[in-house]
Amino acid sequence: MSVPADAAHPFDFAAVRELAANDMAAVDALIRHRLSSDVVLINQIAEHIIGGGGKRLRPMLHVLAARAAGYRGEDHAKLAAVIEFIHTSTLLHDDVVDESDLRRGRSTANAVWGNAASVLVGDFLYSRAFQLMVELDQMPIMRILADTTNTIAAGEVMQLLNIGNADVNEQTYLQTIERKTAVLFAAATELGGVLGGLPDDQVKALRTYGMELGYAFQIADDLLDYISDADTLGKNIGDDLAEGKPTLPLIFALEKASPDQSAAIRQAIEHGGLEHMDTILAAIRESGALERTSGAAQAHAQRAHEALLALADSPQRQALAALADYAVERTF
Ligand code: IPE
Ligand code: IPE
Ligand code: MG
Ligand code: MG
Repeated sequence: MSVPADAAHPFDFAAVRELAANDMAAVDALIRHRLSSDVVLINQIAEHIIGGGGKRLRPMLHVLAARAAGYRGEDHAKLAAVIEFIHTSTLLHDDVVDESDLRRGRSTANAVWGNAASVLVGDFLYSRAFQLMVELDQMPIMRILADTTNTIAAGEVMQLLNIGNADVNEQTYLQTIERKTAVLFAAATELGGVLGGLPDDQVKALRTYGMELGYAFQIADDLLDYISDADTLGKNIGDDLAEGKPTLPLIFALEKASPDQSAAIRQAIEHGGLEHMDTILAAIRESGALERTSGAAQAHAQRAHEALLALADSPQRQALAALADYAVERTF
């Protein structure tokens, strides 16, 4: 595969942040301003999760895509806030479903306030996102976001059905992560192109870029769940295994594992639990599953790079190229 011209970009993550800094300051102000409610518990939980930080990667992708598309207005800040609200609400729900107790280096909302409060405040953020979205009063934008949130919900249900199933293959895994994760990245960048009024083929290219980056991002996340540590990641390691989630490192390891290793992996997926973590980590390492998983993430990042070439060159396009690599190389 040939390396596209802008793969050797001058941007690192700090430089990307710098380029997006003004826009992101407006996004953060909006997020703060539009979070508030007269219900105390909503403010507490929303402040807990939003104040925990987060990389703000999806809103950053949106504002950069809008600027790369030549957009000069201010609606992109509002859309970026909508996208981050949707993301945050899925995290509140996801941590309930995954029974996670650490997120963004803090106890999860479900660990502090319980499942019911987390689900309900997640719903609050979802619906707040839609209130903000309709203020723009643009049907094409509303259609994209309505389709996206519906697909994410279907993806999370699909994942629930895959829990405990050691026969999930790469194809099913990819379908799941496209729905639960990649489509929101795709919407973030597509909407930048829509705001900029780009021709259809370039809007489509921005969507493809976001989708491919989204695949890469989730594959990298699933790898980090095995090889990072809680201090760096801000989330507990081994959550996926504890839950019996058949992610790519396990799927690849199963293809090459010894009978003993294979039995340990299947038992962990089918019954959950971390008792065989050491055996499973060894199987993942010895089978080359780490390299294959990171290779798969890189292949998607490469496709993201290629999609970007449909756009006119600009500092923002170069920043988007850098973010495709960041999605794979990140450590948290
Ligand atoms: C976490 O997303 C959910 C996944 C899709 C893996 P992020 O890693 O972007 O979470 P924050 O917003 O930075 O905390
Ligand atoms: C991402 O999946 C969840 C959503 C897209 C809602 P994960 O379950 O892997 O995300 P983390 O690891 O909890 O952040
Ligand atoms: Mg999770
Ligand atoms: Mg994860």
